[in-house]
Amino acid sequence: MTKHNIHIPVMLDDVIENLSIQKNDRIIEGTAGFGGHTQKILKKLDKSGLYIGIDQDKTAISHSKNQFKEYPFAHHYHDNFSNFETYLTTHKHATFTKFFLDLGISSYQIDEASRGFSHRFDGPLDMRMNINNPIDAKEVVNTYSAESLSNIFYHYAEIRHNKKLVDNLIQTRKTTPLKTTTDLRNIIKKSYFFHNKRSLFMKTCSQVFQALRIEVNQEFKHIETTLPKLEKYANDSAIIIILTFHSCEDRLIKQFIKQSKTLEFNPKSVIKPSKIERTNNSRSRSAKCRIIQKKLP
Ligand SMILES: C[S@@+](CC[C@H](N)C(=O)[O-])C[C@H]1O[C@@H](n2cnc3c(N)ncnc32)[C@H](O)[C@@H]1O
Repeated sequence: MTKHNIHIPVMLDDVIENLSIQKNDRIIEGTAGFGGHTQKILKKLDKSGLYIGIDQDKTAISHSKNQFKEYPFAHHYHDNFSNFETYLTTHKHATFTKFFLDLGISSYQIDEASRGFSHRFDGPLDMRMNINNPIDAKEVVNTYSAESLSNIFYHYAEIRHNKKLVDNLIQTRKTTPLKTTTDLRNIIKKSYFFHNKRSLFMKTCSQVFQALRIEVNQEFKHIETTLPKLEKYANDSAIIIILTFHSCEDRLIKQFIKQSKTLEFNPKSVIKPSKIERTNNSRSRSAKCRIIQKKLP
């Protein structure tokens, strides 16, 4: 086990303030994680309300379930948030009033070497948020075609110059299939000139790992499935908040909302973390808090 950094919830006060939680809200948190935001959400509800927490990481959702067991109106489910409507039905509701997503991975996931999410630790090339996921990162790098790999690096992490990286992956795996994060890191190292700049190397590693993680967990597909369901299951006064962490995922949300007939951005549209938060919590640096509401009829 790696030593875990505590996951500091991003933009906690902004999220809570803008969700404007009422005691009887029906709130869905699709990325419950280890409950950093949940804590404050639950304090705002009473037994007339309903909280549905979902996470596809079994360790995270088990932890949250146990942590908040004294709240009788809180229910936790191990699932993908793209299935959220199932749990509205379970609780005999047709709509939600509040919906919150804090996209991406948690510090726990990044810092646990055995999960393979981080280029900073040696671990298996795994990267599955859900251990039941049929594909892991090893399978992606060792079996995908050159064209698919190139598309993944380009579309999921905006790595434009990826030809040498893809060529090196394909050449290496012919004789020695990649097994570990270190194997991948070594290929990244020989694919670019970093001019002895460690920061540039680290940035490229982060981008490559991000792209593979998005592919393994089909992150964009699940966001794309969820967005139309938000239109369908939001009640008339619903508020939806989504924290995004990179431009590719933020673009998906923006494009969808701009063409939506029933949802729109709140006039504030987007809030960014304060300078103090960015200094104190490096994970918050690229965060954007998108606030979405129902259009008036
Ligand atoms: C950034 S963390 C959430 C942290 C949480 N807000 C907190 O402050 O403790 C994101 C969590 O969302 C989960 N996750 C990401 N995509 C998901 C999806 N499509 N369905 C369900 N859970 C997902 C991850 O497993 C991870 O635990």
